[in-house]
Amino acid sequence: MRLRTVRRSGAEHMVRRERRPREEADASQRQNTGYVPVSPPPTMSLNSEGGIMSFQERWGAFPVLTTRRLVLRESGAEDATEFHRWVSDPEVTQYLSWEGETSLEETQKKLAELRELFYRAFVLPWGITLKGDNRLIGRIRYYQFLGPNWSIGELGYELGKENWNKGIMTEAIQAAVTFGFEQMPGLNRVQATCDCANIASAKALTKAGLKEEGVLRDWGWNRATRAYRDHRMFSILRREYARPEGAPPPFDLQWQKSRS
Ligand SMILES: CC(C)(COP(=O)(O)OP(=O)(O)OC[C@H]1O[C@@H](n2cnc3c(N)ncnc32)[C@H](O)[C@@H]1OP(=O)(O)O)[C@@H](O)C(=O)NCCC(=O)NCCS
Repeated sequence: MRLRTVRRSGAEHMVRRERRPREEADASQRQNTGYVPVSPPPTMSLNSEGGIMSFQERWGAFPVLTTRRLVLRESGAEDATEFHRWVSDPEVTQYLSWEGETSLEETQKKLAELRELFYRAFVLPWGITLKGDNRLIGRIRYYQFLGPNWSIGELGYELGKENWNKGIMTEAIQAAVTFGFEQMPGLNRVQATCDCANIASAKALTKAGLKEEGVLRDWGWNRATRAYRDHRMFSILRREYARPEGAPPPFDLQWQKSRS
């Protein structure tokens, strides 16, 4: 077996050089759903070059999730005005590592970059809107995949202040977790961390079904205090994830043809 080194986000991962037809890989992933296999299926697929497929390459479309109150959709530079309003709010970014964009142009650039990551890399970013109103009120994303065969997906999220404490992020996290376990058969664990002082985030994660594991010392850089901060780690495992038999998923899934 030949091994190939793939460079991603500065880290080097050894992956099996394995070329299988798409249908065969999909069938084996489907078969593997629901139990932890001896040799875990990769969350990521490889393309014909042996490199990692982006989500766009893999699905050819963007997964739009419509939940009870929300639409989780693709976002881009066209959403910059709304997005900028809340990412430049110091209260929204107080527990985060990044500064929040300082100008609308910078926000536009960042949003365009984020969309590109869906097309070119392995990031799954959803913009959050309220049903019937296309304006972005927040976002949630799988921003990195870690661990053996990238079986761990890490979530990040933010919401504009005017919509806090209405259960919106709980609903969005539940949708992202369900999508992860039901549409990415190699995913075994979904995790998220939050600053120990970020009670709202910890509560939303708990309400969405994630369990607290402990405190990671100096895990996050904090923009406001310019210091490392302890974070709480939360996770949910595939074997803990269960949708009652016959129950509908917490969203309606539509694959939206992407621009390319
Ligand atoms: C964290 C965040 C996404 C939560 O979103 P949200 O939609 O308001 O979350 P939910 O309403 O689903 O759940 C929040 C819960 O925390 C509670 N809460 C909020 N602030 C609280 C506080 N200071 N003390 C105790 N409980 C608090 C709310 O009452 C709610 O619980 P309840 O439903 O039992 O009443 C949102 O506050 C936010 O965007 N913050 C800024 C960005 C951020 O910190 N992102 C997360 C990084 S890890």
